Amino acid sequence: MKILKTLLMSLAASVFLFSVAFAGGGDAEKGKALFNDPKAFGGSTSCSSCHPDGKGLEKSGMEGKKDWKNPAGTFKSLEETINVCITMANKGKAIDTKSQEMKDVIAYIKSLGKEMKKAPGY
Ligand code: HEC
Repeated sequence: MKILKTLLMSLAASVFLFSVAFAGGGDAEKGKALFNDPKAFGGSTSCSSCHPDGKGLEKSGMEGKKDWKNPAGTFKSLEETINVCITMANKGKAIDTKSQEMKDVIAYIKSLGKEMKKAPGY
């Protein structure tokens, strides 16, 4: 019985640690859903209508990147660039740079680069 109790306790502890480690991070799956949803940011166009499956954004989430470009200009943060695409391209409303939605979209954009690394030839 004691072993079982210890096992259960350590299981509970790892579940707890896992959720702490991921709290505050973004969810790439949710980000992808937002990315494909025309109404996600109160607008009428989805991100994927211009960036199908995130194409062209594979490098946007890379560590050490310092500027991002879209047709409205050059920006110093990924969050700002996304908000400009939201307001100018999706015709939606800019979202809080610290919001969960922003984190999710960024997690999705970062996952695009990881997919690229996994593919042969890179
Ligand atoms: C009307 C078309 C359009 C829509 C809709 C759009 N974008 Fe863009 N976006 C562009 C264009 C054009 C660029 C310039 C770079 C390119 O050609 O991919 C760009 C650039 C970007 C960049 C910077 C690329 C880099 O690394 O310098 C990011 C990040 C981005 N878009 C994210 C988004 C997100 C997230 C959405 C949805 C909220 C979105 N875009 C919606 C057209 C669009």
